[in-house]
Amino acid sequence: MTSPAPTPTNPHHGASPEGTSADTNAAKTPLGVAAIGYAFMGKAHSNAWRNVASFFDVPAFEQKVLVGRDAEQVAEAAAKYGWSESATDWRQVLERDDIHIVDICAPGWMHAEIATAALEAGKHVLVEKPLANTLAEAETMTEAARAARGRGVQSMIGFNYRRVPALALAKELIAEGRLGTVRHVRAAYLQDWLVDPDSPMTWRLNKETAGSGALGDIASHAIDQVLFLLGDSVTEVSGRLHTFVDSRPGADGPEQVTVDDAAWATLTLASGAVASVEVSRMATGKKNSLTMEIYGDKGSILFDLETINELGFMDATVPVREQGFRRILVNEPEHPYMDAWWPQGHVIGWEHTFTHEIRDFLTAIDTGTPPTPSFEEGLAVQRILAAIEESADAKSAIIQVASH
Ligand SMILES: NC(=O)c1ccc[n+]([C@@H]2O[C@H](COP(=O)([O-])OP(=O)(O)OC[C@H]3O[C@@H](n4cnc5c(N)ncnc54)[C@H](O)[C@@H]3O)[C@@H](O)[C@H]2O)c1
Repeated sequence: MTSPAPTPTNPHHGASPEGTSADTNAAKTPLGVAAIGYAFMGKAHSNAWRNVASFFDVPAFEQKVLVGRDAEQVAEAAAKYGWSESATDWRQVLERDDIHIVDICAPGWMHAEIATAALEAGKHVLVEKPLANTLAEAETMTEAARAARGRGVQSMIGFNYRRVPALALAKELIAEGRLGTVRHVRAAYLQDWLVDPDSPMTWRLNKETAGSGALGDIASHAIDQVLFLLGDSVTEVSGRLHTFVDSRPGADGPEQVTVDDAAWATLTLASGAVASVEVSRMATGKKNSLTMEIYGDKGSILFDLETINELGFMDATVPVREQGFRRILVNEPEHPYMDAWWPQGHVIGWEHTFTHEIRDFLTAIDTGTPPTPSFEEGLAVQRILAAIEESADAKSAIIQVASH
């Protein structure tokens, strides 16, 4: 069922400033966008759809319809977040000719079904991470994306941390050889929202709905960063998973937690580098700390999401008496994405990563260039997650990761 939202606050984003690509695309039909899910990611993505054309030159598009399960709540969210309409049946939305892009902000158990149906219906698809809850689903989705790409239909997975300017700068420095040969990486993603054993059950703590716990939720981001920053692939892993609180209050009494609260892994990369990955939802005091440390023979890089505008860089090629980590404030127009924002030193935040993601996705659709990270890249992460689970089941045995 589809219903108009009561008061759309900002329904049309095709209207961009003069001289932008929206003007040059004036003859093209604006791309109609549907988003599925209106809670955490639905809100973050809506915010990005709402402001992207104010900062970046993007093709004309319209925030057409927001989809959720509860008609009243989704209508309210649609009005608040700038969508023209709301709907409760995503299948009906896929049948509409005026929808060209589907942005999937629903939980992992729905990704495969919605994404494959949308791609088959000829819609460009942006899907939140992790790609799917199981390797089999991720493979099906990747196959559908490959076939759709052949018909000019694009797809992308929402590893938004690739769009943190400091991490995009880190990738540039590594690619330019400023770190020399990278020997090892420490990646950690630590949160503490499950420290309280009375924190209630959610879909995120059930294997059926979430696939895995901290592993799929946040190790997926950390592992994607290792692959992104190094431009490398993983050949083998050893892993361990642990659940510290295995029962939590549900609606009708205690419910079994069937996923991990924390995970650890070491990854061997094709280059010979080694990465350690540590993730937890039980790291008291760490709210949303993704840290990346990359050590090469000519230099090192440090990043912490809690200081998102900064990158630590140590150049080991300068005389030893001058060496030390320098703090780069990644707010110059020369830095990735930053020329679209504010004057130097006017810092940006977490939500900007989604604006960058949507800008890159729209640009890719406009130019017909397959965007990145692709579903293939999402599948590569999924294979590593599955290998970590397999290793954990076998007392941290080393598991080979297929490279195809
Ligand atoms: N990139 C990031 O930093 C980041 C952060 C959090 C979550 N995520 C990912 O985003 C996805 C969603 O997570 P979330 O935190 O937004 O979850 P959430 O629980 O906050 O929201 C899920 C939304 O999906 C909707 N939904 C569920 N079933 C539906 C159906 N049948 N039809 C239509 N809508 C339906 C719900 O109504 C809700 O609006 C997950 O894949 C998660 O891993 C990514």
